[in-house]
Amino acid sequence: MATHHALGIDIGGSGIKGAPVDLDKGRFAEDRLRIATPEEATPDAVCEVVGQIAEHFSVGTDVPLGITLPAVVAHGVVRSAANIDRAWIDLDADRLFSERLGRPVHLVNDADAAGVAELHYGAAKGHRGLVVLTTLGTGIGTALIMDGVLVPNTELGHLEIDGHDAESRAAESVRDREGLDWEQWAERLQVYYSHLESLLRPDLIVVGGGVSKQADRFLPLLDLRTEIVPAKLRNKAGIIGAAHLATRGN
Ligand code: BGC
Repeated sequence: MATHHALGIDIGGSGIKGAPVDLDKGRFAEDRLRIATPEEATPDAVCEVVGQIAEHFSVGTDVPLGITLPAVVAHGVVRSAANIDRAWIDLDADRLFSERLGRPVHLVNDADAAGVAELHYGAAKGHRGLVVLTTLGTGIGTALIMDGVLVPNTELGHLEIDGHDAESRAAESVRDREGLDWEQWAERLQVYYSHLESLLRPDLIVVGGGVSKQADRFLPLLDLRTEIVPAKLRNKAGIIGAAHLATRGN
C-alpha cells in the first residue's frame, strides 16, 4: 500500500472500529471493521481486539497505525480515565500496543483525532484562526486547533459549570439517560457553549459525535456569537484523524 495510506483504529465505549484511510482523499480505502468493545475494557482485552482489526486488513507493518483513546494521551502514556477502565491510567499504551502488534503505533485522544480530521477533510477544512471541535457522546471531548495546529488534550468537556463537570450535564448520554427532549438538552448545551465561547472566543465551533447527524434538531436552538456547525465526517472522524496524525503529525 502506498505511503499516503495509513490505518486508523478508534477505541470507543461500545465499539472498536478500524479502516485503512486514503489520506489524499480523507476517506476509507476499504470498508471499516467494527468489533464490540470487551465488557471489561482492560488494556489487555482492548489490545487483543485492536490486534484483530489490524490483522484483518492486508496492510504491511510499515503502514502507519494511529489509535484513538477516549482519554488524555501524553507522549503515548494514558493520563486520565473518565469513561474507561481505570487500569489505563499511567499506562505506556504506546509501548503496550507496539510490542503486542509488532509495529509502531501512534496513540491520540479521540476528540483530537476527530478535530484534525474535520480540519483537513471536513467541516473546518482550510479554516484559520481558532477552531474548537466538541464531540457529544458518552462524554464531551474537545479539540483546539489554532491556525491549523492542534493543541492536544484540552479536555474542555470537564469545565466546571455551576459546580458540575460539564459533560455530566450536557453530554449526549445524559440526554438519553435523563430522557431530555431537544429543547431541554439545548438549554444545557447553551450554558456549555456560552461558557466555552466566553473563555476562548473561537472563530468556529464544530459539533461532532453520532448526534451531529441530528444537528438540525438542536443547533438552531442555540444562541451564540460564534459560528457553530455540525461535523461532516461523523463517526468516521476518529479513524481518519488517527490515521492522519500517525502519518503527518498534525
Ligand atoms: C474524556 C476525553 C474524551 C471525551 C470523549 C471525556 O470524558 O475525558 O479524554 O476525549 O470524553 O470521549
